[in-house]
Amino acid sequence: MTSTRDDTDLEFVKLDGTGLHTSELQFGTWRFGKENEAGEVEIGEERAHELLDAYADAGGRYIDTADVYGGGTCEEWIGDWLADRDRERYTIASKIYWQIRDGDPNSRGTNRKNLRHRLEALLDRLGTDYVDVLYIHRWDDATDARETMKTLNGFVESGKVHYLGASTHRPNAWKVARANEIARAEGWEPFTVLQPRYNLVDREVEGDYLEFARQQGLGVCPWSPLGQGFLTGKYDREEDLPEESKVASSSRFRESYLTTENFDVHDELDRVADEVDASPAQVALAWLSHRDGVTAPIVGARTVDQLEENLAAADIDLSDEQVDRLTDAKASPYEGL
Ligand SMILES: NC(=O)c1ccc[n+]([C@@H]2O[C@H](COP(=O)([O-])OP(=O)(O)OC[C@H]3O[C@@H](n4cnc5c(N)ncnc54)[C@H](OP(=O)(O)O)[C@@H]3O)[C@@H](O)[C@H]2O)c1
Repeated sequence: MTSTRDDTDLEFVKLDGTGLHTSELQFGTWRFGKENEAGEVEIGEERAHELLDAYADAGGRYIDTADVYGGGTCEEWIGDWLADRDRERYTIASKIYWQIRDGDPNSRGTNRKNLRHRLEALLDRLGTDYVDVLYIHRWDDATDARETMKTLNGFVESGKVHYLGASTHRPNAWKVARANEIARAEGWEPFTVLQPRYNLVDREVEGDYLEFARQQGLGVCPWSPLGQGFLTGKYDREEDLPEESKVASSSRFRESYLTTENFDVHDELDRVADEVDASPAQVALAWLSHRDGVTAPIVGARTVDQLEENLAAADIDLSDEQVDRLTDAKASPYEGL
């Protein structure tokens, strides 16, 4: 992975699979305008702009969003913020998939009608003529891959999208391989960037997904690098959940992350954090950046303090031995396959 410094704190690294460079830590915006289970907005407009300012001030230039974040308000707020900036200096990635109209199955997925309508709408909200990376947010098994790839290729040819990406919940390498095979056979643009969930406790991509990405030279930008906040040291096996955490109010979060096995991983994370005099969040992010095949994690934060703490992870050096201990703290379910 080559990198270049641009007189700023965060470095640029090559966004594998594309001709672009990305900030070594991308900034994720899915909590902008998002309501939690208690009906509270997690990040309002003013805070959203403060977070974007803090990211930009640290040299960050890569913003990840999706057309459903905050029901579209997330992209509007990014667009308002970008209007006062030099748009060309920023790489913007967005995503399309989830259903947006009740009772209308055509407003979901990657069919031609939905993709075309949704791209125009998101460009309008962002106030830009193009997005740098357009992801399919999930696989649409109801739409033929040929229809999806042909439509996406049209977006690239029109200049409204520069690169194509696939974001996944279940990492199915064969689906990307098949879609790209169709695209290449037709001379269409293939997917070149992948966005899977990956962090110290969510390791599904270690099956064959990362290896596939390495073999194909694709960019890999992991989401939820801190396990939605679990890997930050603020949760405890015995104590009550921290009041201020918006994520912890989600029952799904509690079931997926607050497990004995994950707390055992956190114990090793705490030990390494003590050794390198860093926070658990910083070490968890540094571990991810050290993983072979990972291009740039997408950092999330609810406050500017959290963001600044997380961005400082770019300065953390871990020894091979520390990386191995963290890696081994949770056995990959695919180890040895
Ligand atoms: N493609 C997809 O399907 C998909 C899915 C999810 C996310 N994403 C992308 O990935 C980005 C990051 O995902 P994520 O938000 O789940 O990332 P994450 O880094 O795993 O979790 C972020 C959350 O953890 C807590 N946190 C972060 N830093 C902290 C710190 N230093 N100390 C204490 N708490 C801290 C905050 O929540 P609290 O303070 O409320 O606890 C924050 O909102 C998203 O914004 C989005 O762009 C994509």
